[in-house]
Amino acid sequence: MREKYKKRILVTGGAGFLGSHLCDRLVERGDDVLCVDNFFTGSKANVAHLFERSNFELMRHDVTFPLYVEVDEIYNLACPASPIHYQHDPVQTTKTSVHGAINMLGLAKRCKAKILQASTSEVYGDPEVHPQKEEYWGRVNPIGIRSCYDEGKRCAETLFFDYYRQHQLKIKVVRIFNTYGPRMHPNDGRVVSNFIMQALRGEDITLYGDGTQTRSFCYVDDLIEAMIRMMDTSDDVTGPINIGNPGEFTMKELAEQVLELTGSRSQIIHLPMPADDPRQRRPDLDLANRVLNWAPSVPLRDGLKKTITYFEQLV
Ligand SMILES: NC(=O)c1ccc[n+]([C@@H]2O[C@H](COP(=O)([O-])OP(=O)(O)OC[C@H]3O[C@@H](n4cnc5c(N)ncnc54)[C@H](O)[C@@H]3O)[C@@H](O)[C@H]2O)c1
Repeated sequence: MREKYKKRILVTGGAGFLGSHLCDRLVERGDDVLCVDNFFTGSKANVAHLFERSNFELMRHDVTFPLYVEVDEIYNLACPASPIHYQHDPVQTTKTSVHGAINMLGLAKRCKAKILQASTSEVYGDPEVHPQKEEYWGRVNPIGIRSCYDEGKRCAETLFFDYYRQHQLKIKVVRIFNTYGPRMHPNDGRVVSNFIMQALRGEDITLYGDGTQTRSFCYVDDLIEAMIRMMDTSDDVTGPINIGNPGEFTMKELAEQVLELTGSRSQIIHLPMPADDPRQRRPDLDLANRVLNWAPSVPLRDGLKKTITYFEQLV
């Protein structure tokens, strides 16, 4: 018999970067965690340390196909998150977001489970307002090379809110801004992993454009805390809620910090800007502060140090 206090929690994309940290926290809290992943960008290695835990289970499954399990809560994270990976098979990326959302919402409906969607700041596209508030509808190119991801995630949000209105599902939508930390894929082309790997290998650090475009970076532990708080809010809280870190840095500043912390002698070189790359992105966290009583606490420098320590084992 199942112990009464344990929640059965499904984490899709649980073997990925964010998913594996979420599984860590939920297993530690004592919940029964079912991690589902097709290992497209995630790996067993990210959750191997949990195999010995009796409240953790790993299942190979692609969320574009229906899944029949019994659960109380679903965190829907399955989706490649970096441009290199999501542009590798753009049709599959849209299918993962859209069919994946339909399948997981269907499962939530059948089980009467609460369901949280890992949405993204990319739903704001290349924004005209700064910082981005949740009410902003975004400026997304529907036919560009990033659209498989951006529009897939937008459609997933639509599906979540339609299931909420039409079937009274308990939904939670978080819009995640750039997050970094240990277990990021080393070759995913995302700026933090890129710079660190280039610095550790002594290769040139590739800055796109003049490096004055800004990003905000949230350390993974802060983000997971916000996600769990969001899931635990009362049923009237649906989101969308921005989560991330408002500290804004230019790509040039990031490159310089990475060079300093790794002690690398790599040179910074400039390359042309890729298509549809937003110039500026920063979350407005008012809502998250008020509703989740949460604010990120890990400074970029501290988070970078931990991330560099992880990447050092890989080179
Ligand atoms: N890391 C960030 O900065 C960030 C920012 C915004 C949104 N997000 C969202 O958070 C979620 C997790 O991102 P991440 O950074 O951990 O990326 P990740 O690539 O490390 O994790 C995604 C996981 O989903 C799995 N997956 C992909 N397609 C699947 C499918 N069809 N069926 C089952 N599993 C599948 C992958 O194998 C991987 O383990 C994604 O939905 C992403 O869009 C992340």
